[in-house]
Amino acid sequence: MTDPIALVPLPQSVIWSAGTWETTAPWDELSVGLTEDLPRTEYALSISPHGANLTAGSEAALADGRNTFAQIVTGAHGSIPCVTISDYPVHAWRGMHLDVSRHFRTVAEVETMIDTMALHRLNVLHLHLTDDQGWRVEIKGYPKLTEVGAWRDQTLVGHMSGQEETWEFDGTPHGGSYTQEELRGLVEYARRRGIMIVPEVDLPGHMQAALAAYPNLGNFPEQQVGVREVWGISDHVLGVSDEVFDFLRDVLTQVADIFPAPYVHIGGDECPRVEWERSSAARTRMNEWGLTRVSEIQGRFTQFAADVLAESGKRIIAWDEVLESHLPDNTVIMNWRHGNGLKTSTARGFQTIIANNEHTYFDHYQADPAHEPLAIGGLTTVKDVYTAEFSPHKLDDDQKSLLIGLQGQLWTEYMPTAEQVEYMAFPRMCALAERAWGSPQQSWDEFEERLRAHLPRLDAFGVRYRPLD
Ligand code: ACM
Repeated sequence: MTDPIALVPLPQSVIWSAGTWETTAPWDELSVGLTEDLPRTEYALSISPHGANLTAGSEAALADGRNTFAQIVTGAHGSIPCVTISDYPVHAWRGMHLDVSRHFRTVAEVETMIDTMALHRLNVLHLHLTDDQGWRVEIKGYPKLTEVGAWRDQTLVGHMSGQEETWEFDGTPHGGSYTQEELRGLVEYARRRGIMIVPEVDLPGHMQAALAAYPNLGNFPEQQVGVREVWGISDHVLGVSDEVFDFLRDVLTQVADIFPAPYVHIGGDECPRVEWERSSAARTRMNEWGLTRVSEIQGRFTQFAADVLAESGKRIIAWDEVLESHLPDNTVIMNWRHGNGLKTSTARGFQTIIANNEHTYFDHYQADPAHEPLAIGGLTTVKDVYTAEFSPHKLDDDQKSLLIGLQGQLWTEYMPTAEQVEYMAFPRMCALAERAWGSPQQSWDEFEERLRAHLPRLDAFGVRYRPLD
């Protein structure tokens, strides 16, 4: 943004507030138009005493420009600066992940997250819809997924440490799910704010909630498990019967239909193999498939999901564990484990999203745990996010061109309320958004000063952020 050259009085009609920016009133003062004169990713915004004008090279860039205008107007008191801005993002994927499985969030709460993402020109909401602790999406033909799989009887209190006999539970049922209609509504709500929702169905592990609803989808159909009440990794994963693949076809096809995004995230992380090792059905399948190692079974799931989704014209995204198998060329890798992940995936030619658990996991503490609400562990301050070296490995130019973006993660084991989600998300999300947009990195001191000036915008949205130290 250029320096303000003057302040213009803010017309009453340009009071922008969450959830209303697409209505006509706030935009009376802003003329908007697409132009072929600008590259597709670029927008140009000018605000003068005579009015505001926005042009852009595509609908997506127009949304970015509108969100910039919204940012300028939000929290402004009586006047806004005259500016001329020409801008475009460095990264196509500027994402936030939200885990609605570990703790369910209402449609209204997800909409608030979408509003705050738009304010920061983030453009992808990765919705983690299924996991061991709750299945959140209606799937026609499988009513028990939401009747049974969306509810757990109780939840672990505190950390999952020490002997199992010492664990305490809250004794309170927790759950909830979205109808397909509600999800279509969310997709449209997000689209109007320039945000694409990418759904995740985590498979073949992280499936205990589905197995609680339909034990026949597991490796031992006579084994009745409940929706998981503790965190960590469950050994109960999908079985290998025809029924399981029919189920996956139905789920993925319906999810692909609800969400128009060209991607579906199929998880692929943390899939234990102990049940496959013990299962005679899995051994028979391995012979049929010509596999020699149990570890190769997951690759069959990944390939199956990719084939099914390709029929709906979609590509798969998956966590980096899937690199252990052969993958379709158009797979997008979400790198969460630090180490050689980025190097490996880009060397193999895969587009890759940076989502590492060192700098982008907002379930970590953001200050001394002694003075913070309970979190999963770790320490990732807002300064750590802003100053992170996201791509620490030497990548050549071809590899760098495969890094399509950056994403923050909100795993919600220790975020039981929307308030706690906001506390953990902000202000780290502000730093992430700045890095994802790719503005030239300044010193931390410079960013901190701008961040302090930005906080009134979060206040205007009612965001319950962690105050800066
Ligand atoms: C992950 O954190 N298991 C992707």
